[in-house]
Amino acid sequence: ARIAVLMGGRSAEREVSLVSGRACAAALREEGYEVIEVDAGRDLASVLISDKPDAVLNALHGRWGEDGCVQGLLEWLGIPYTHSGVLASALAMDKARAKDVFAAAGLPVAAGRLCCKAEVRGSHPIDPPYVVKPVNEGSSVGVYLVRENANGPAQVSDEMPEVLMVEQYIPGRELTTTVMGDRALGVTDIIADGWYDYHAKYSAGGSRHVVPADIPDEITAACLDYALRAHRALGCRGVSRTDFRWDESRGLAGLYLLETNTQPGMTPTSLAPEQAAVLGMSFGALVRWMVEDASC
Ligand code: DAL
Ligand code: MG
Repeated sequence: ARIAVLMGGRSAEREVSLVSGRACAAALREEGYEVIEVDAGRDLASVLISDKPDAVLNALHGRWGEDGCVQGLLEWLGIPYTHSGVLASALAMDKARAKDVFAAAGLPVAAGRLCCKAEVRGSHPIDPPYVVKPVNEGSSVGVYLVRENANGPAQVSDEMPEVLMVEQYIPGRELTTTVMGDRALGVTDIIADGWYDYHAKYSAGGSRHVVPADIPDEITAACLDYALRAHRALGCRGVSRTDFRWDESRGLAGLYLLETNTQPGMTPTSLAPEQAAVLGMSFGALVRWMVEDASC
């Protein structure tokens, strides 16, 4: 079969997506597929119409590629594609809407609300510590942490969107769980020296991953359960990855779901392929599963 691997694109996560896409393309070739690598530009529709792939492996991250836009185009063209469909992608990409869906499903989310930029800059919108972030970016792009003893509110940059999510900061640990179809794969404990930001995510040695996480069984079970329920509540398909913060001093009550990523990273430092590997599934087997699961 001929598979088009979509990568790059126009989002702030373009570089991450190129690394994900190239890794997926190389693995698919090794699995025996014919592969077309497509840097998704404004001519994407005409490229897909002329290349006529049997399926698309979507390795785009962030806006336009992870938020339902590309998914809508692929539905329109009738090309089967990997990961979530239009609605689930759009919901998951909007951190405010996703929070509402999670709360309605009875999942624990950190207290937060939408604020406009001027409000965030003027004074503390909620008691510190808190996090200010765009509702529709990934890889920690544009995320500000206002610590307990901060001198003042976040001086967010002019490039930030007008409406921002302000969310109570949960001290403690960063945990994550990948869902593959109807199965939650495991829990990874992410240990970064400081803030788990873009640099810590994508630099070799920027963070250490402990998988399976060395945490109480009760917390592991809750992460697996919450990730699967989040995936289902949003209506996700294929592979997704749900991120948590866990304040260990508060036991199970300190576990909060942050977000579900519908196009989790597939780079050499990424978490989803690592969780699959721990279960004995190679990177090649994972991308093969994704492509076989593709639909529209
Ligand atoms: N947004 C990045 C790619 C991730 O969630 O892995
Ligand atoms: Mg994300």
